[in-house]
Amino acid sequence: DPALVAAGEKVFKKCKACHQVGEDAKNRVGPVLNGLIGRQAGTVDGFKYSKSMIQHGEDGLVWTEETVEAYLADPKGYIPKNKMSFAGLKDPEDVKAVLAYIESQGG
Ligand code: HEM
Repeated sequence: DPALVAAGEKVFKKCKACHQVGEDAKNRVGPVLNGLIGRQAGTVDGFKYSKSMIQHGEDGLVWTEETVEAYLADPKGYIPKNKMSFAGLKDPEDVKAVLAYIESQGG
């Protein structure tokens, strides 16, 4: 849905300070978001995650629309002691849109 992707590109402005996505994406303050959906949390090569994020992944946390939505709604509540300093994204529609954008970029 091109309209959703366009809306998601706008939402992604809030993520860009820390995350990249796409062919030339590199780890920055946050890990690259390529291949996000279906991936075990805390597993991008070469990114230094918090212990908490790695532990949640080892305990079975996989990124889906539902888990990304829960994480972004309340990052520190969903994964205590994770190191993403982001207030969050309260509107599920914004999460849908940003995920559509991420997937359109090869995420
Ligand atoms: C981790 C999404 C904004 C910094 C993550 C993860 C996701 C995510 C899904 C987990 C990745 C993984 O397990 O590989 C987003 C989205 C954002 C956003 C969609 C915008 C809506 C930000 C911002 C910052 C940031 C603004 C920096 C101020 C980080 C860091 C981690 C992370 C440091 C690693 C956390 C840890 O290891 O505990 N983000 N993020 N993110 N993000 Fe973000």
